[in-house]
Amino acid sequence: MKALILYSSRDGQTRAIASYIANKLQDTLNFDVLDLQQVDTVELAQYQQVLIGASVRYGHFPPALMRFVKRHAAQLNQMPSAFFAVNLTARKPEKRSPQTNVYTRKFLLSSPWQPKQCAVFAGALRYPRYRWFDRIMIRFIMKMTGGETDTSKEVEYTDWQQVDRFAQDLSRF
Ligand SMILES: Cc1cc2nc3c(=O)[nH]c(=O)nc-3n(C[C@H](O)[C@H](O)[C@H](O)COP(=O)(O)O)c2cc1C
Repeated sequence: MKALILYSSRDGQTRAIASYIANKLQDTLNFDVLDLQQVDTVELAQYQQVLIGASVRYGHFPPALMRFVKRHAAQLNQMPSAFFAVNLTARKPEKRSPQTNVYTRKFLLSSPWQPKQCAVFAGALRYPRYRWFDRIMIRFIMKMTGGETDTSKEVEYTDWQQVDRFAQDLSRF
């Protein structure tokens, strides 16, 4: 039996976290790591457990997340399943739990799928890689929320020890 990790990532951080978790657990589980944006349907019955990770842009998870969750809710709810969210609000530790992270709380409230485990990870801020409009918008948000405003910088806020702990919890499913 195998495990499935589905991720949705625009700039690569969620994909990096998904790969990291798959590497951490490769001794105990054989993983398929797939891009949620490319997956239309998937035969979940072939998997022992499922992990879904998605990042936030302009206040929202990608529509593909809710589409997938609605389509597969019944099956997901019956198997060991987990969710992780990635965003920059979570760079503040007090906004890094499913209850205190506004995007994650809202998602869990509206989702027909209730994952057995859930984590919120801080993402990365990579100004030089953004289109000019996004760079201006993110800088504005950072200024409003007391974050990094130097647009020459790339900052990774992800706490990899937190990701390690989450991976360990998954291995005890
Ligand atoms: C255009 C854009 C919009 C974003 N909007 C939000 C947001 O509304 N709230 C937030 O907390 N983080 C926001 N972020 C931060 C991302 O969630 C963060 O950079 C994350 O690491 C991106 O994940 P990815 O690399 O997997 O795409 C935004 C980032 C970009 C580039």
